[in-house]
Amino acid sequence: MNNKTDIANRDDIILLVNTFYDKIKKDDVIGHFFTDVAKVDWNKHLPIMYNFWENILFYTGNYSGNPMQAHKKVHNLSPMNQKDFNHWVKVFTKTVDELFEGKKAEEIKERATNIAQVMMFKTLSH
Ligand code: HEM
Repeated sequence: MNNKTDIANRDDIILLVNTFYDKIKKDDVIGHFFTDVAKVDWNKHLPIMYNFWENILFYTGNYSGNPMQAHKKVHNLSPMNQKDFNHWVKVFTKTVDELFEGKKAEEIKERATNIAQVMMFKTLSH
């Protein structure tokens, strides 16, 4: 029996983001960008990511940042490549599929894939 539900609210986004970054912290391919290169302060980063995704799925208007600039900074410290971005998308997609099913779940995977594409292009081409 399948009892997965769709992403319905901020609590669902919090669960998704927390689960995703728990995996990322331990990830062999891209974990080091977060833990060693950017030395991410998770208490700050996670709420930013809740807002980022909540705004994308539910138009809350509560994210005002510059993701392109954030990644450029990381890239300048330690270059990222296409494989890294593809891996990010793979782990994100897998996390969504493990937890949710429905229209918003499909939408967030599609948006993540598209943003990753633009981000990769902008980060790697300048
Ligand atoms: C290889 C892939 C990626 C790596 C290694 C990566 C890594 C990072 C790191 C290290 C930060 C900075 C955190 C901090 O210093 O507080 C960051 C911020 C962020 N990332 Fe990524 N990222 C990747 C892909 C993506 C993708 C595909 C998205 C969106 C779909 C995304 C969305 C964001 C956002 C929204 C921020 C916060 C920017 C802000 O401070 O407003 N990242 N990322």
